[in-house]
Amino acid sequence: MKNITIVGTGHVGLVTGVTLAEIGHQVVCYDINENDIALMKAGISPFYEPELTDLLKKNLNKGQLFFTGDPKLALVDAEIIYIAVGTPTAENGSVDLSYIKEAAKTIAENITKQEVIVVTKSTVPVGTNKLIQQVIVTNLTNEVNVNIVSNPEFLREGSAIYDTFSADRIVIGSDCEKAASIIEEIHRPFGITIFITDLLSAEMIKYSSNAFLATKISFINEIANLCEKVGANIEEVAHGMGLDFRIGTQFLKAGIGFGGSCFPKDTRGLIQQATEAGQSLEILEAVIKVNKQQKYSLMNKAKQRFGNLKDKKIAILGLAFKPNTNDVRESIAIDIASELTMQGALVTAYDPLALEEAKQILGEKIQYALSIEEAITNTDMVFIATDWDEFKDFPLEKYEMLMKHPIIFDGKNSYSLDEISEYNIEYYSVGRPFLN
Ligand code: UGA
Repeated sequence: MKNITIVGTGHVGLVTGVTLAEIGHQVVCYDINENDIALMKAGISPFYEPELTDLLKKNLNKGQLFFTGDPKLALVDAEIIYIAVGTPTAENGSVDLSYIKEAAKTIAENITKQEVIVVTKSTVPVGTNKLIQQVIVTNLTNEVNVNIVSNPEFLREGSAIYDTFSADRIVIGSDCEKAASIIEEIHRPFGITIFITDLLSAEMIKYSSNAFLATKISFINEIANLCEKVGANIEEVAHGMGLDFRIGTQFLKAGIGFGGSCFPKDTRGLIQQATEAGQSLEILEAVIKVNKQQKYSLMNKAKQRFGNLKDKKIAILGLAFKPNTNDVRESIAIDIASELTMQGALVTAYDPLALEEAKQILGEKIQYALSIEEAITNTDMVFIATDWDEFKDFPLEKYEMLMKHPIIFDGKNSYSLDEISEYNIEYYSVGRPFLN
């Protein structure tokens, strides 16, 4: 059992803290956001993540997990410290490391144990861990021997707890063998393959993994667009491709492109790092370009169908960047809603979890509905932008009953063509034949 402190209690930090407490460590979570700390102290997660609240409450009650906004209290007994603060994109496109540097300084000023390991969970450009070490060493107020480990995060929002206990691998990078093996010991109870490597390679693994997954998505989206032209069905194609283990079945789901707080930021971040290193990343540039185009593919289909969208009543189902989260950061659905209003359409949107979050971005530009029924009633067309189960389970006859004339532009291929063909619905999806 170790005394562990998590600096930064966003998605990555809180999930890390709660799951490390769950496997028996004594965990203190520290954040500068006092409001969030107060919520978490009361057993409330500031964001939605399946299974998180139960584990949070359980470990709070057991006394394994503490929350504080006081850096002294958070760090005085810490043997292992995880940095999980945000690394947003700076105005010039580079990765903004100001929160990382601030966290490193706070750590340096408050640690007291003789030996401390600082583990970076945040996604940081190659070389940042060395910078973290430098900042810590120059700001130390006590005599502490600090070693640095990179332990990049591979969790998906919406299944972060599940992923913690059943991910494919844990990557531990360090130039200090002893520190790496202590962190390996900590993670062993998760029962997941652990790969130990050097510091710089661990940092690169994180960026290149996200870049590769984003590449799969843009690739399959381009093939989907071609399928539409030649009459093939992308789901059959992706399935047939995925049966080859060298390709794999995952991340071949065609749609309206990738969003969220990771892929868009990390693809841009890797390109920026390459530029700084004097290299271009041509494939990744294309991945981003394809993703931008794919975002508006549904809208272009609607424009083709209707001529223009001025004064058309449109329902958007889904605002979160993916299901099982209320996160709307870089959500394609939000961009679609915004663009549709620019075209003069009258948009009403529904999302099971992300209405409040979307309102903060879109404000009065659109209307918000509290159910699918309310959103689609009397509309000219429906856009499906997030693959929530609630949409998949929605009885198709209700589109017939509630819409003027049922027309669906499905950006997530939520329904099988066989299902749809039993109803009088005009149905446009991604990479599959059009049904009328
Ligand atoms: C992603 C990675 O999957 C995680 O491994 C990583 O840890 C995380 O980023 C991160 O860097 O923190 P996440 O952004 O939560 O996780 O969500 P994903 O499930 O990967 O989806 C990202 C986007 O790609 C979504 O917009 C999703 O709709 C889209 N997507 C995903 C597709 O369009 N097709 C697919 O086949 C898969």
